[in-house]
Amino acid sequence: MQTINRLDSLRDNIAALRAENKRIALVPTMGALHAGHMALVEAAKKSADAVVVSIFVNPTQFGPNEDLDAYPRTLESDSAMLVDAVADVLWAPHAATVYPQGFATKIQVGGPSEGYDGAARPGHFDGVALVVAKLFNQVQPDVALFGEKDFQQLAVIRQMAKDLDFGLEIMGIPIVRDADGLALSSRNSYLSANERQAALALPTALEKAAGNIRAGDDISSITQAASVGMLAAGFGRVDYFALVDAVTLEPLLVYDGRPARLLAAAKIGKTRLIDNLAI
Ligand code: PAF
Repeated sequence: MQTINRLDSLRDNIAALRAENKRIALVPTMGALHAGHMALVEAAKKSADAVVVSIFVNPTQFGPNEDLDAYPRTLESDSAMLVDAVADVLWAPHAATVYPQGFATKIQVGGPSEGYDGAARPGHFDGVALVVAKLFNQVQPDVALFGEKDFQQLAVIRQMAKDLDFGLEIMGIPIVRDADGLALSSRNSYLSANERQAALALPTALEKAAGNIRAGDDISSITQAASVGMLAAGFGRVDYFALVDAVTLEPLLVYDGRPARLLAAAKIGKTRLIDNLAI
């Protein structure tokens, strides 16, 4: 695996892969890699000839009171995991390469970025869209893979790629969970043992709500009960617990059988967790 942090070297490397007619996959990450990321790399290897993994903790997607400084930075162990997974290129640009002095461009995606994390974290999806657009332009992949764990992010990226004619395939990869059901996340490392245990109330609430939705119960009573249950289990705040259309992310007050998704975000201690489940 080649580790690259200069844009000209990346371009040479991509040009060499293209000259060999290789189909290129991009797996964008912020590092602190875990089995969920490795599932993306494995899926990328199946759908392309060469896999580029990017690691960049993107400052523009963190709000002023969020965890940019505390976000785990584990480049050495991430790199070892990618060598084991046999990725081809690790693209690890410095902040000044992604956002050089004088950088002045913004991207704002409407539609699926509105509400939920878009409301709870103002500006977050603008930052995600901006860095992902830059990564698409830098790597020029044929396919890019994202985890369904960040379901709203995936919808926003699909919208942007379509609207801006990026002309690449966007693949969503199912959530990887620990044996007890907690979705893997780099932020789980912030949880104390007690919080980790109490956090299981989130996937449990999703499963219970999904069952009740399928049984035809009233949606707003279901989502309200889910929030109450999570608060009782130790969450300090529930930002949202909602049933949405799986493509547009519009809220659904009645389940009519279309592909839908339960989305939830809640804070336990100092850690904000998100999760979701297909209906
Ligand atoms: O999902 C993430 O890790 C990040 O939001 C992404 C897509 C790599 C953009 O920084």
